[in-house]
Amino acid sequence: MIGKDYLSLNDYDADDMRDLLALSRYLKHRNKAGVREAALSGQTLAMIFEKPSLRTRVSFEVGMTQLGGTSMYIRGDEVGLNTREPAEDIARVLSRYVQGIMIRTFDHGNVEQLAKYADIPVINGLTDESHPCQALADMLTVHEHFGTTAGLRIVFIGDGNNVSRSLARACILTGSDFVLACPESYAFTDADKKEFGDFWGHQVQQVHDPVEAVSGAHILYSDVWTSMGQEAEREERLNAFQGYQINNELMAHADADMKIMHCLPAHRGEEITAEAFDSKASIVFDQAENRLHAQKAVMRLLMANDRDNVLSAARQFIQ
Ligand code: CP
Ligand code: NVA
Repeated sequence: MIGKDYLSLNDYDADDMRDLLALSRYLKHRNKAGVREAALSGQTLAMIFEKPSLRTRVSFEVGMTQLGGTSMYIRGDEVGLNTREPAEDIARVLSRYVQGIMIRTFDHGNVEQLAKYADIPVINGLTDESHPCQALADMLTVHEHFGTTAGLRIVFIGDGNNVSRSLARACILTGSDFVLACPESYAFTDADKKEFGDFWGHQVQQVHDPVEAVSGAHILYSDVWTSMGQEAEREERLNAFQGYQINNELMAHADADMKIMHCLPAHRGEEITAEAFDSKASIVFDQAENRLHAQKAVMRLLMANDRDNVLSAARQFIQ
């Protein structure tokens, strides 16, 4: 059930995901039609960033403005989460000033701690564990290009990381198959497999041969080989991921109507060639745009007090 916070897709079921996607589509449609929303008028979103960002920061900030509210960017080192001040105090202080918190941090436990002590919604803007805002925008993009989010083969070529973990869960919720194509030592962990439960080995799979993985794929999805915070491992990772690049040769093994996705930022010449990135199959900028619409849906649901009404309008819209 959609509760106070948006921390992980593991907290949601297929109906919640359907509602989140319906509302994303509805708000995107209204935005394109020039409708001005005022649902969050007078509200402020505090955004704490312990890691860099382009998309997340700008899309949340613009999203709040479009919903009639404002946002506030706070550098992680200013707050000193659990160093300058305990998460529980930060959560209680912010709850007295603002109506929502978005945080990008390393340890997922930080987000959970904030959510536990805040009276207001907390949104996960990326942790080492997950990136649920990205996965929601991704599924909105998949729906736009395939007319469905079910029955597809979505292949993530990279490591078992925040983006692949959330995307795998999004596939479980929407009825698509997820395949992680990775070198053996960069696979999903035992804890991940446990979290996937009965879906592991069926709807969520892992293969080490990239050609085998992309055979029949509808979507080839890529992410950087070295995530934020892993910079010291860069050389080691560059070596390990040789052969896992999205390029013409690999693309030839996928479905003829295959699309390329990437959460961005991208490193052309590493995880993806410039040619593949800029090819007709690439839908990466639709994906980037959809971060705005998907996150507006999340904020609209969590921060306004007319959840039932807006959901019923969204459900009607997608009929
Ligand atoms: N995809 C994504 O989250 O981008 P940023 O790191 O720029 O926010
Ligand atoms: N896996 C990447 C995603 C960036 C949006 C990282 O964590 O750096």
